[in-house]
Amino acid sequence: MRLIRKAVFPVAGFGSRFLPATKASPKEMMPIVDKPLIQYAVEEAVAAGLTDMVFVTGRHKRAIEDHFDKAYEIENELASRGKTELLELVRGIIPKHVNCIYIRQPEQLGLGHAVLCAQPVLNDEPFAVILADDLIDARTPAVRQMVEVFEQERCSVLGVQEVPRAQTASYGIVATAPFRERVEEMQAIVEKPQPAAAPSTLAVIGRYVLTPAVLRHLARVRPGAGGEIQLTDGIAALLGEERVLAHRFEGVRYDCGSKLGYLQATVAFGTRHGEVGAEFTEYLKRFSGA
Ligand code: UTP
Repeated sequence: MRLIRKAVFPVAGFGSRFLPATKASPKEMMPIVDKPLIQYAVEEAVAAGLTDMVFVTGRHKRAIEDHFDKAYEIENELASRGKTELLELVRGIIPKHVNCIYIRQPEQLGLGHAVLCAQPVLNDEPFAVILADDLIDARTPAVRQMVEVFEQERCSVLGVQEVPRAQTASYGIVATAPFRERVEEMQAIVEKPQPAAAPSTLAVIGRYVLTPAVLRHLARVRPGAGGEIQLTDGIAALLGEERVLAHRFEGVRYDCGSKLGYLQATVAFGTRHGEVGAEFTEYLKRFSGA
């Protein structure tokens, strides 16, 4: 099996939990301090050695394409004002060896459908899927940890973490058997089970390394939970013919698709930020009366 070169970023969702902020601009462009969520996600893929970034976009998502494109006006302006540091920052958003590919999801038919839309550029290769609204703060980027497992085991790997039982209805939940430290054999996967029906509290977080066989299954999946074509259902079908692993990756995950997770990420990244971190930390201490 060939090694992973491509990362798929499904960015065609509604972002309804963040309205009105997401009415005309994509959720993935919301910044954590000074960098949009999608840039953190692309940096994670690049750090894992991936070179082809495939964005599955929809209406109102042009800002994402513009963000990774050359910005002549801004660059000229910064150059003429001698602002070299900012110029380098803008020019370095995407490394030169990395390709950006944009595909449109014409209708929001679900995450599984969004991944299937990328099929024409995936060339029967294994690929990663990264959901930018799951921001993962890790010493070794989460996708890199998972690509390492893929390279050793040559099968699909899902990123998982424990969640409180009361929250299982917000996630794909897996049943597993032990394999080795942090890595488990997947036995079943269910989309958004009610707490009483959940086979475990191990939830799939927005990171996947998948073999191309999943696309064949996704093409056959009927709409499931919420009337959407679920990636989970494609993976459940894949499990019938291939081994799939669940990887308890190391790192703290922030659900930036929710208001609370977004604010928590802002505090975590803000207090460490090179320019404002120390002052912001002081401010938070004063604010909380500590
Ligand atoms: P979410 O379940 O977070 O949905 O999608 P959403 O629309 O983005 O946000 P809410 O729940 O309405 O607030 C999970 C991921 O799948 C993508 C989203 O962009 C997000 O990254 N997605 C979802 C698509 O690309 N297309 C779809 O049809 C559905």
